[in-house]
Amino acid sequence: MAVGVFDSGLGGLTVLDAVARDLPDVPFVYYGDNAHAPYGVRDADDIFALTCAGVERLWAEGCDLVILACNTASAAALKRMQETWVPADKRVLGVFVPLIEALTERQWGDNSPPREVAVKHVALFATPATVASRAFQRELAFRAIGVDVEAQPCGGVVDAIEQGDEILAEALVRSHVEALKRRMPHPEAAILGCTHYPLMEATFRAALGPGVKVFSQADLVAESLKDYLHRRPEFAGAGRVSKFLTTGDPQRVSDKATQFLRRQIRFEPA
Ligand code: DGL
Repeated sequence: MAVGVFDSGLGGLTVLDAVARDLPDVPFVYYGDNAHAPYGVRDADDIFALTCAGVERLWAEGCDLVILACNTASAAALKRMQETWVPADKRVLGVFVPLIEALTERQWGDNSPPREVAVKHVALFATPATVASRAFQRELAFRAIGVDVEAQPCGGVVDAIEQGDEILAEALVRSHVEALKRRMPHPEAAILGCTHYPLMEATFRAALGPGVKVFSQADLVAESLKDYLHRRPEFAGAGRVSKFLTTGDPQRVSDKATQFLRRQIRFEPA
């Protein structure tokens, strides 16, 4: 019973860590499309084609259920995949909805009309493609009213992380937070809407200052996957082995993954 975890590169490892911790008996197959990262500067057709290729590879590993641990793919491609491409015996789930359910204090499957929620001023940090898709605001509008969202497209951050340049990534994060705070000086909550960003969480928190609730997508996705597998055990696929696949250079990607997660990770060619 293996589950697939997809990302454009290293960011989905933050989600993988959380799901593997919460579901220690489930094998996970990770697919990083490092050769084509970053996705955040690509158009929707391109993101759709690359994401479908990765998901097909994970199906071939016996993962009937694939988590898109990538907000950019979830925002720009998931709806089209679910509506036009995913067969009935497979599932592809994104990382957006668990986050928005947490922000709007909803349980899974609560489809009641939108209502007022506690947070009124939300800062969204995401890739340019995710911000342009407005998927976050759309999903939020189904569930909440009166929430002011200020979105900051964080150009360059994913690229710096993929290159292993932590100093550049930190400097970019600080400047993106400053830019957002000029437009929304006192956000109550911040969404790190890209799975690469938890790797820079300390820098985001320091730049945002105290009193801003930072939502951790990885933990929320892990909770929601556990719940999903409990409700739909038939989607735990036939795969038995955990592994890490990359379209990039396996040695280079393994070194960077090991550097960021501070534990040994070995990728093999996808
Ligand atoms: N981790 C991806 C996300 O959550 C990064 C996208 C990219 O490659 O730009 O959006």
